[in-house]
Parts: sequence; structure tokens; C-alpha cells
Amino acid sequence: MPDPTHSAESQTMTNTSGDVPAIEFRDVTKRFGDNVVLDGLNFSVPQGQRITLIGPSGSGKTTILRLLMTLEELSGGLILIDGDPYTHEYKGEKWVAVPEKRRRVVRNRVGMVFQQFNLFPNMTVLENIIESPVHVLGKSKAEAIADAERLLEKVGMSEKRDFNTNQLSGGQQQRVAIARALAMDPEILLLDEVTSALDPEIVADVLDVLREIAETTDITMLLVTHEMQFAREVSDRVLMFDKGQIVEEADPETMFTNPSHERTKEFLKAVLGG
Ligand SMILES: Nc1ncnc2c1ncn2[C@@H]1O[C@H](COP(=O)(O)OP(=O)(O)OP(=O)(O)O)[C@@H](O)[C@H]1O
Ligand SMILES: [Mg+2]
Repeated sequence: MPDPTHSAESQTMTNTSGDVPAIEFRDVTKRFGDNVVLDGLNFSVPQGQRITLIGPSGSGKTTILRLLMTLEELSGGLILIDGDPYTHEYKGEKWVAVPEKRRRVVRNRVGMVFQQFNLFPNMTVLENIIESPVHVLGKSKAEAIADAERLLEKVGMSEKRDFNTNQLSGGQQQRVAIARALAMDPEILLLDEVTSALDPEIVADVLDVLREIAETTDITMLLVTHEMQFAREVSDRVLMFDKGQIVEEADPETMFTNPSHERTKEFLKAVLGG
């Protein structure tokens, strides 16, 4: 059960001003059976910032993103989006689960791109992109198509509009997945090692697309990547995780050139091969 220890005051506000973080984790705990993956994790992401999560395999990075997509249930604590309780709220002096209907409204502000693309199979590129805008946001098909065409242009995939997604290369599928996430007009974009499954020569294309999104939008981004140069360019802050804890938090320059903690030094040495 959640065991949030903070005041209930901020639990009820709906506020998208710059003062309220886009994402807030409060004493978040996540267990899988006996395995405590996150243990009282606290961090927040200010509106419009780009935060990179780094750390060894199994340190809990994907779990954090999956909790934000409500693909996993919390074992304890709270997650707030724009100050709105996303998971639990204070009601009649008790913490209760946020009803699924409200949770869905908040979740629609969050988009995610996975390592393994996860496109809808047996659908064309265009159908993949317009599916949720039409069925979830209730956009007209004409409007959704117009938006999709603009996004396909942005990710350099206009020519593949009517291809089935299984006729695409990995890099092309990933660019479609990015366009699909953007088609939901997310306030928050979660990116989980989106280039890890790609051939090295294709990685740069996908990173170019992400770099452009970072430069041309004010979407809040939480990303997990092993592309340290890219992380250095786009991040406002980098959080180093180990065993579900933040061991170090710094601006990218400091994190990648002058980290303080031994664990970070070891990790970066292994990843950067230096
Ligand atoms: N569905 C699940 N059931 C049981 N254990 C899980 C599940 N998902 C994750 N875990 C466990 O949670 C821990 C954290 O996993 P997570 O995927 O968040 O790590 P990660 O930091 O993303 O690692 P990687 O860099 O390898 O992707 C691991 O010990 C993993 O085995
Ligand atoms: Mg992971």
C-alpha cells in the first residue's frame, strides 16, 4: 500500500504553471515479489526539462518509465503529473487509488517510445499514427491524417506512409514510433533506449529526429540512453541510478567529465570504454 507522508494540500491542484514539476515521484517504492526495485525514490522533472537516466542494467530505469505509463502498479508512494495525483489521492483522510477514468486523462499527456518500437502490426504507417488520435482523442480522421502527414515529414518518413510497418527497417519503424507518440501531442515524452536495437549507421538518423524535437518543442523529456554524446547535448540534468537509488545527479557536463561518485566513474568508464 502507498505510504505517502507528505501533506495533502498539493494533491488536489491542477496547475500547469512553471512552478509545478511536470513529473514528481514521492517516496516511490516498487517491488516485484521480494525484489525491491525502487525504494523510496524521490525526484522531480521541471516543466520542459530534458532529464537523462543512466545506470547499470537492472538499476530500475525502465521501471520508472513504465510506472509513468501506468504499465506497472506502484508498491508505495505517489506519482504526480503537473501536480495532479496520478496514482493515488487524499480523500476523506485516506489515500485512495485515482479512478481509472481520471488516470487515463492524465496518462494521455504522456507518450512513450520503447526500444522495440511496439508498432501496431498489420497496419500501415499512417494507420499506426492516426489510431490513437482518432480513437482516444476523438480527432476527425481528416485532421488526424493532416497531422500525421506533417509528423511523417518531420521524421523523414513521408514516402512510407502507406507501407505496412513490417516492410520497414528498424530505424524506419522507430521513426514511425516517434511520430506516433508525437501525434498524441504529449506534454511529456518518455524514451527508453530507443536506439539500442538499431544498426549503428541508423542510430544517427533517429538521434537527429530526437534532437530536432528537443530543439523545436517544449515537451518535457525523460530519457534512458547509452548514447552519452547525445545525452550530453540534449539533457538539462543527468541522474545516475544504481539499485533503484539516485547515486548522483548533475548537469551533463559535470556528470560526463567530472563525476563525483566512484560508482558513476566505474559505470561511465565501462560504457564509454575509456
Ligand atoms: N515484470 C517484471 N517482473 C519481475 N521483475 C521485474 C519486472 N520488470 C523488471 N523487473 C526487475 O526489476 C529490476 C529493474 O529492471 P529495469 O528493467 O527497470 O532495469 P533497467 O535499469 O531498465 O535495466 P536495463 O539497462 O537492462 O534496461 C530488475 O531486477 C528486473 O529483473
Ligand atoms: Mg531498461
